[in-house]
Amino acid sequence: MAQLDGDSDRINIAIDGPAGAGKSTVARLVAGQLGYVYIDTGAMYRAVTFSAQRLSISAEQHEPLSQLMQSIRIELEPGERGQSVFVNGEDVTDKIRSREVTVQVSYFAASGVVRSVLSRMQRDLAVRKGVVMDGRDIGTHVLPNAELKIFLTASVRDRALRRFNELGDNAAITLDQLESEIAERDRLDEGREISPLIRATDAIELDSSGMTIEEVVSSIVQLSRTKLAEAK
Ligand code: DC
Repeated sequence: MAQLDGDSDRINIAIDGPAGAGKSTVARLVAGQLGYVYIDTGAMYRAVTFSAQRLSISAEQHEPLSQLMQSIRIELEPGERGQSVFVNGEDVTDKIRSREVTVQVSYFAASGVVRSVLSRMQRDLAVRKGVVMDGRDIGTHVLPNAELKIFLTASVRDRALRRFNELGDNAAITLDQLESEIAERDRLDEGREISPLIRATDAIELDSSGMTIEEVVSSIVQLSRTKLAEAK
């Protein structure tokens, strides 16, 4: 049985899974319901990608990338639409969602120096517990002792459709293109050598295809209450 530290009555929740499975929406709502802090680790990889692109550093340029990782300051703050992201004090919340960042981020996420610095930052953010962290390697690598681990999936078509609907009328991309980009990102995230996207053996798998967001959120909140009671 998991033991909570000291008089803490909070747990850490890891939500991993492929792109577009609804992790960030679900994680944010779960955190809201539990009064926990939501941490979107994908945004941190995006922030690094954005900063590197601005400095014309590619994912293969180890030295300049290491230097960037030594000096970068990434801050996450709860915002109107979830979480605002700041790099060295600059608000990059919207900029990190550009297609340019989206198509490159998996290459930066495969870099050892990027992963080790970001993993350390992520662990530091979770030391006091009461965190809902979403990503790809949270249950396996960043927080292997998280009391609750969820692996959230959905079919590639379902995930592409969700993204497509989010883009609305202004979508400058077809559903088929989105589907193949998502499949490509899955392939890169699952195939990389360091901390690939993989379900932790003790994670609970939830397939959100055909489920509403509310249903997914309430099942995770329920599971977290059970885990909390078990850990006391
Ligand atoms: O969740 P997202 O789509 O914003 O993530 C952006 C990219 O970052 C995605 O290609 C996978 C990568 N990522 C990762 O490798 N490890 C994490 N913990 C979070 C994201």
